[in-house]
Amino acid sequence: MKKIVSIVLALTMVFTLTIPALASNYTDVADGAWYAEAVEALRAKEIMNGVGKGKFGPDETFTRAQLATVLYRMAGSPAVTGEDSFTDTESGTWYADAVLWAYQNKVVNGMDNGRFGTNDAATQEQLTVMLWRDAGSYKLDREKYASTEGVENQASDWAFDAVVWAKAEALIADLDAYAPTKAASRAQVADMVYRYMKLKEQFANIDAVSGATQKADEQTAPAETTGSKVLVAYFSATNHTAGIAKHIADAAGATLYEIKPEIPYTAADLNYNDSSSRATREQNDDTARPAISGAVENMADYDVVFLGYPIWWGQAPKILYTFVESYSFDGKTVIPFCTSGSSGIGSSATNLQKSASEASWLAGNRFSGGASRESVVSWINGLGLEIEAK
Ligand SMILES: Cc1cc2nc3c(=O)[nH]c(=O)nc-3n(C[C@H](O)[C@H](O)[C@H](O)COP(=O)(O)O)c2cc1C
Repeated sequence: MKKIVSIVLALTMVFTLTIPALASNYTDVADGAWYAEAVEALRAKEIMNGVGKGKFGPDETFTRAQLATVLYRMAGSPAVTGEDSFTDTESGTWYADAVLWAYQNKVVNGMDNGRFGTNDAATQEQLTVMLWRDAGSYKLDREKYASTEGVENQASDWAFDAVVWAKAEALIADLDAYAPTKAASRAQVADMVYRYMKLKEQFANIDAVSGATQKADEQTAPAETTGSKVLVAYFSATNHTAGIAKHIADAAGATLYEIKPEIPYTAADLNYNDSSSRATREQNDDTARPAISGAVENMADYDVVFLGYPIWWGQAPKILYTFVESYSFDGKTVIPFCTSGSSGIGSSATNLQKSASEASWLAGNRFSGGASRESVVSWINGLGLEIEAK
């Protein structure tokens, strides 16, 4: 199997190296332009077209109806029924389904006066807010991600959190050129939409729910001769955090425990684009405490607990709260770790800490889903604990 993978990889590399970079399909997009890759990718996926006569029109503006259409195409142009409530949209037009979809999915709100602003040029903050809403409107910790001199301060109040998010997720190509209230250029639209698509792809890996549960029962040997008894407790919906948890348990000779939900999460439950999905509802509900199946045996015996989870809307999934509130952590050292598509650990660990403040909490760490065993080992050995990871 390994061999097949390496052959495929080798072939992929050969092809990647020998196919020359495609020249732009538009006469007004230079190959090396900062937005050229985005323009080409969106053209190839039929998400954003040119303006005719072989041109893309990078410096031209883009209407709000066009923007809704781009987002609708990105969502796969699903069938829609019903009507929007805007006063300036017309049914049967080229944009009608897209605006209806965007309205029904709360990607657009329209203007105060009941207009959608169909033919208005989309501003840069409107573009940002639409992407942010499409992503689920998750608000990053302002203390950590916003700053007094940040570009978010030039944005309208309703766009502030969206701009903070776009900045943190590196969706803005050039912060110096970003002017929230000015019209977005077609080049900016293409570039930002493309960056967002790549971000989505990163966290769209949500089809392996059953895989996460399968691997969960593997337990490594209990801690050997280190002075401390170590537990690695983790929740993982799509197996990324499980991989890191196993590296930790293996390297530190710790006991591995999976926090298993009594009702497993399905792919639909994890859909962060759906404001009524289970994950979204739970994360928006401060009192949600999803039930856990099973329990840690002899929790009192452990001195050190590594606590792992995926980032959901910038925070730990609510089942982590169920977990920490189920045991006494008195006298224990807790080390949080997480995986995410791109967000840092942010306030997720410090918020969790409030529910087990009797423990001594170390600063947490964010890993990418595929982080290597070596990187995990060197992280553990740098924690200053009496644990030697090998
Ligand atoms: C409901 C949900 C919300 C998410 N929110 C974020 C987020 O705010 N920031 C981020 O970078 N990734 C986010 N992701 C991506 C996950 O954090 C990432 O894929 C993680 O590695 C999954 O870990 P797991 O496989 O252990 O469940 C989200 C994923 C889901 C399912």
